[in-house]
Amino acid sequence: MTTARAPLSVAAAMDRAVTLAANGPAYGPNPRVGCVILGAEGAELGEGWHRGAGTPHAEVAAIADARARGVDVRGGTAVVTLEPCAHTGRTGPCVDALTQAGIAAVTYAVADPGNASGGGATVLEERGIPATLMEHAGASALTHRWLTAMRLGRPYVIAKWAATLDGRMAAADGTSVWITGPEAREHAHGVRAEVDAIAVGTGTVLIDDPQLSARAGGEDAAHQPLRVVIGHRDTSGRRVWRDPNVLGVASHDPRDVLAALWEREVRAVVVEGGPTVLSAFLREGLVDEVHAYIAPVLLGAGPSVVDDLGIGTMKDALRGEHVNFQPLGADTLVIAHLSRGF
Ligand SMILES: NC(=O)c1ccc[n+]([C@@H]2O[C@H](COP(=O)([O-])OP(=O)(O)OC[C@H]3O[C@@H](n4cnc5c(N)ncnc54)[C@H](OP(=O)(O)O)[C@@H]3O)[C@@H](O)[C@H]2O)c1
Repeated sequence: MTTARAPLSVAAAMDRAVTLAANGPAYGPNPRVGCVILGAEGAELGEGWHRGAGTPHAEVAAIADARARGVDVRGGTAVVTLEPCAHTGRTGPCVDALTQAGIAAVTYAVADPGNASGGGATVLEERGIPATLMEHAGASALTHRWLTAMRLGRPYVIAKWAATLDGRMAAADGTSVWITGPEAREHAHGVRAEVDAIAVGTGTVLIDDPQLSARAGGEDAAHQPLRVVIGHRDTSGRRVWRDPNVLGVASHDPRDVLAALWEREVRAVVVEGGPTVLSAFLREGLVDEVHAYIAPVLLGAGPSVVDDLGIGTMKDALRGEHVNFQPLGADTLVIAHLSRGF
């Protein structure tokens, strides 16, 4: 049995691998990875992607796909969006799977910064299998949050809020339901469904009594992030505690929160407020990405999104990069990146 797929260049195979990678879940401890195995003259022998922690890595899935098609991958080139791993985690090292399958060369788009998992390219080279880095913007975008988390050794932090045109997060009486319209709220639920955790302070739990679930079209999304309540006060009896998937962190130090989440293999968290908690994360330089949903609403009084960040002069202002705007009904989502160097 053979395949009759059109021949691919290595660059085209990498495009395909990126498309495959996007099939994997955005949440979870592992990154999204895709792999295409090319044979002589660009014949596509097998392809696969990683479906989440505990399932085969993309390289192993691609080898299995070739076997299922009755195709021999010996002498082939594995084109993979992330450097093959060199360690045994929930599954065995991909460098061993590739070596045992007789793969002759590897091209990868993103180097793995993981302490344990990284170094696969060197191992392959030592075994006489050339491993070539071929950067790909799509592969970098798919792994951006995971890579940042692995490099920093803490979860990627998205600070999210809904604010009025005059920068208020709530009215003077504490009400904030609803500053934004349904389109903005639906979008925010989509973001929740792609991360591992959502965090708020006890103030928000006590005033708003949120469920902190991810919903799509009014229904609970298939993936529900861990709900995290930060602070000392007793919030038991509030709706967030109805689901067992909740973590209380009795601390005011955002680093404690991130350490507790890292221990639970959280790679991305949305910090949703309120202003006290958001300010604490921003003050400590622990926000990678801001999602500000801005409504054409004025309140004139009530808590501002952030309080004193210790910034006294313009040159010290926190300035976002790679800024994106998205109209959502009457509201606008502004996404800005605050991380440096990634
Ligand atoms: N528009 C929006 O997007 C949005 C989102 C969320 C909330 N809100 C609004 O925000 C208001 C609540 O504001 P908030 O500031 O009280 O809420 P919060 O930030 O959720 O909670 C503040 C509480 O968290 C604890 N805490 C955690 N980390 C802290 C730190 N680093 N420093 C000090 N305290 C810390 C403290 O409580 P303990 O004493 O228990 O430790 C503190 O009182 C409500 O009106 C709500 O409607 C708006």
